[in-house]
Amino acid sequence: MIGIFDSGSGGLSVYREIARILPEQRYIYVSDNAHCPYGGKSPEYIRGRASLISEFLSGRGCEVIVVACNTATAAAISYLRQTYDLPFIGMEPAVKPAALSTRSGVIGVLATEGTLKASNYLDLRDSLPDGLRVVDCVGKGFVELVESGDLSSPHAEQTVRESVSPLLEQGADVLVLGCTHYPFLRPLIEKAASEFDPARKVDVIDPAPAVARQLVRVMHGHGLLDDSSLQTALSLSGEAEGAVPYRISDEQRRRLELYSSGDLGSLERILGLIRK
Ligand code: DGL
Repeated sequence: MIGIFDSGSGGLSVYREIARILPEQRYIYVSDNAHCPYGGKSPEYIRGRASLISEFLSGRGCEVIVVACNTATAAAISYLRQTYDLPFIGMEPAVKPAALSTRSGVIGVLATEGTLKASNYLDLRDSLPDGLRVVDCVGKGFVELVESGDLSSPHAEQTVRESVSPLLEQGADVLVLGCTHYPFLRPLIEKAASEFDPARKVDVIDPAPAVARQLVRVMHGHGLLDDSSLQTALSLSGEAEGAVPYRISDEQRRRLELYSSGDLGSLERILGLIRK
C-alpha cells in the first residue's frame, strides 16, 4: 500500500501520475486541510504535522510514503527519513529539467514561501551553470483557489496573472510548478503566459511524472515491485510524456482511501476532476 499526503488536495496532482503508471496498487491519501496552507508556517510546525501523518499512514500498513508537497518535503523529509523505517519520496522544484528546456536562460519558479526559503531550493539554484538565472515568485492565493475548487473564474485568472506576470517580465520562458496545488491551475498559468506575449513559447514543468518514476524505482529497490512491474510502470510512464493529465477509473477510485484533518469537500471536488 502506498501512502500519499499533502497539506490539502494538491497532492492529487501527484497521485494521478502515480496511478497512471501503478494502476493496480492500493493507496491512502491524507489531506491535512485543517492546517492548510503550509506555505507560511514554520518548518517545526510542518515537521510535527508530517510526523503525525506518517505515523498514521505507516500504522495503516503503507510500505512507502510520498510526501506530495514541496513545502513539507523541504521542512520535513530528512527528519522523516531519520525517524521512520520506511522509504519516503519527496518533491522539489524541477529546476534541473527547466535548465535543459530554457532558451532565454531565465527559469521562472512558482512555489510557496516555505519552499522558496528552504536550503534545498537555494542550493539547487546555486548549482545551476553560469548563464542561467532563476527568478521566483510565490503563487499568492493559488492554494486557496484550488482548495475552494475555483479553477476558472475571472478572479482565479486575475490571481494567477498577478504571480505569473513578474516572472515573464523578467524574461522567463519556462515556468516550474514548485507546489503540487499549482498543476490544477495550469490552464490559467498557460493562458496568462500566452496573453503576456503571444510570440514567446513558454514551457510549464510539473515534476509529478518524474516523481512517479522515482517512486517505482525506490519500490523496486525495496522489493515492493518485481522486475516486470517495474518495466511495465516505466513503459507506461514513457507513453505518458506530454500526454494529457491522467484520469482515474472507478476501479482505481475504489482502491484509493481518503482521509482529511478537516472536511472532505475540497478533496472530493478535485477528485471529481481527475476521474474518468
Ligand atoms: N501543496 C503544497 C506544496 O507542494 C503546499 C501548499 C500549501 O499548503 O501552502 O508546497
